[in-house]
Amino acid sequence: MSSVRKILVTAALPYANGPIHLGHMLEYIQTDIWVRFQRAQGQQAYFIWADDTHGTPIMLHARKRGIKPEQLIAEMDAEHQRDFQGFALSYDHFGSTHSASNQQLVEQIWARLETGGYIEKRTIQQFFDIERGMFLPDRFIKGTCPKCKTPDQYGDSCESCGSTYSPTDLIEPRSAVSGTAPVMKDSEHYFFKLAEFTDMLQDWIKSPALQDEVRNKLQEWFADGLQSWDISRDAPYFGFVIPGTTDKYFYVWLDAPVGYMASFADYCEQHPELDFEAWWQADSEAELYHFIGKDIVYFHALFWPAILHGAGYRAPTAVFAHGFVTVNGAKMSKSRGTFIMARTYLEHLHPDYLRYYFAARLGPGLGDIDLNLDDFLLRVNADLVGKLINIASRCAGFIHKLNAGRLADVLPDAGMYQNFLDQQPAIAEAFEQRNFQSAVRQIMALADQANQYLAEHAPWQLARQPEQQSAAVAVCTQGINLFRVLITWLAPVIPVTAERAAGFLNTPVAAWTALQQPLLQQTIEPFQPLLKRIEQSQLDAIIKASAGSLEPNTDNATAAAQVSQTDNDMISIDDFTRVDLRIARIVAAIQVEGADKLLQLTLDIGTEQRTVFAGIKSAYDPDQLVGRLTVMVANLAPRKMRFGLSEGMVLAASGAQGGPYLLSPDSGAQPGDRVK
Ligand code: MSP
Ligand code: ZN
Repeated sequence: MSSVRKILVTAALPYANGPIHLGHMLEYIQTDIWVRFQRAQGQQAYFIWADDTHGTPIMLHARKRGIKPEQLIAEMDAEHQRDFQGFALSYDHFGSTHSASNQQLVEQIWARLETGGYIEKRTIQQFFDIERGMFLPDRFIKGTCPKCKTPDQYGDSCESCGSTYSPTDLIEPRSAVSGTAPVMKDSEHYFFKLAEFTDMLQDWIKSPALQDEVRNKLQEWFADGLQSWDISRDAPYFGFVIPGTTDKYFYVWLDAPVGYMASFADYCEQHPELDFEAWWQADSEAELYHFIGKDIVYFHALFWPAILHGAGYRAPTAVFAHGFVTVNGAKMSKSRGTFIMARTYLEHLHPDYLRYYFAARLGPGLGDIDLNLDDFLLRVNADLVGKLINIASRCAGFIHKLNAGRLADVLPDAGMYQNFLDQQPAIAEAFEQRNFQSAVRQIMALADQANQYLAEHAPWQLARQPEQQSAAVAVCTQGINLFRVLITWLAPVIPVTAERAAGFLNTPVAAWTALQQPLLQQTIEPFQPLLKRIEQSQLDAIIKASAGSLEPNTDNATAAAQVSQTDNDMISIDDFTRVDLRIARIVAAIQVEGADKLLQLTLDIGTEQRTVFAGIKSAYDPDQLVGRLTVMVANLAPRKMRFGLSEGMVLAASGAQGGPYLLSPDSGAQPGDRVK
């Protein structure tokens, strides 16, 4: 390798609106493996990352919890990073899009785009929720599909027939936030003139680093003509105010990718030897790569390079898109217990298992990746424990028993060792191309050869004959060295195990060039199991813990759905305090002629007496009720019943085990006391 490459790598910024799940982890593991691989080649590679903190769903989520968005995003940041560290992700910096550095960069880019004439203002009409005083994003409007007439569809597309439309096409639209009918209202918005960048983008997508599927998709979008992009949102919004306005905000998708830059700027701040401009200026020699899911290609392959170019910055070297995770062949599902949170996984299983399995399935394309749990268990146990670790465990004991832990002076089969090393360029190329499944396949084929070598030379037999003991040590030295080669190549995939192996070998497991020198004449530590087998019971426990767990907000869409759902089910504290609950003493209870469920109660609430008909006859003998305290709704509008006027309601519980069970206060409460 000629000179050291400067490589800046990002993964998509997770929304600070929900927990990390195994779908996210595919991307983050893929990114981490690639960065670790680059570092192991001696490249100057940084993994720069952040939480994506702005937008309507986060604002509403915080509001619903009665906290500031700042508090919500601080909590999520801590939670996300705990999960990421649990999976041994080696990011160099984790920033936030809600940071001073991001605001500064967004404003600078904005000013440059304005000066360049790339921004236009237009008045648009949008649905407005009068009750909440806010404009509604498409995903916060629901109504009946204009095509197939399915009720309860989002403002941008129908989940039943798949058609897309604008929210104004919906039949009987209503706000998903308040449930009220929205009205149309004018608002001035700012647009980014994407079409001005047609030539630049045409050139950019010819660059060889784009995946074919992505390039084809882009060509389709070009054919449709590039539309200006609405990059502003009206207050209330959680985000950055557009300079020169008081009530317009940058749309979250404008400031989110700038977060990549801002996070790196923060990192440079802490590392003065790094020059931010040198990495981002138009003619930078550094390489810039974004790992993303296939759902956000539009933002990264069209808008983002155009914005960067318009603001005088370099474009990405490449955007690497991947497919989606399915579990057991189907979309992750809460009811099947396959919507697995990162945290749940980590409570039961070692991170390297999942890292290995995803690597074994990941290619350079956009195909979906299935996490088949039966296959996961078999494959991890067979490959990692049965093949890889087995090499070390078969050899270590004899080195200790026969040679005090010291490796032999020479390799008995240097040719074989060299054959292994000869595979290194092909394996490195597979990693470089993100063809991890190919790299893993090649490495495991060599693990088979190493095991075969041990089976043929059977050190366990040699060890029994005193004159063959040095031969046994030699064979085991060969085995340990082959193990070291394999674990070094796999270290980007299974870094936790590689770290333990480094302890066992008494040698760092990192740079691939170090393999040129075999490990000889040095002492290794006694072997300890580096990785245990996966047990079926652990997988069962994960499924059990995941069943019925709250489905997370993976994107704005589900967040909107969730917010709206709860918003409609929730009552405000004001709603609640309007209910006047009082302690009441039952002063009389009698059967009601002709009613088989009702008792007529006379209730004393201190200031007055009320008559209430209660459906509790099946559970209570009227005489036993007299004198007892209970709780009543004192401001319920009187209802005329067949047997007389009911002036309130008593509270009773019932459930699967029966009831009703009349509620009563602890002793000390007095008739008329308020219940809150
Ligand atoms: N916040 C945006 C990204 C902004 S980047 C400037 C976002 N966040 S996300 O939390 O919804 O998703 C983060 C990444 O995880 C995305 O690349 C997305 O494609 C990926 N995945 C989310 N669910 C996934 C699966 N089920 N499978 C694979 N990747 C998935 O989008
Ligand atoms: Zn429809």
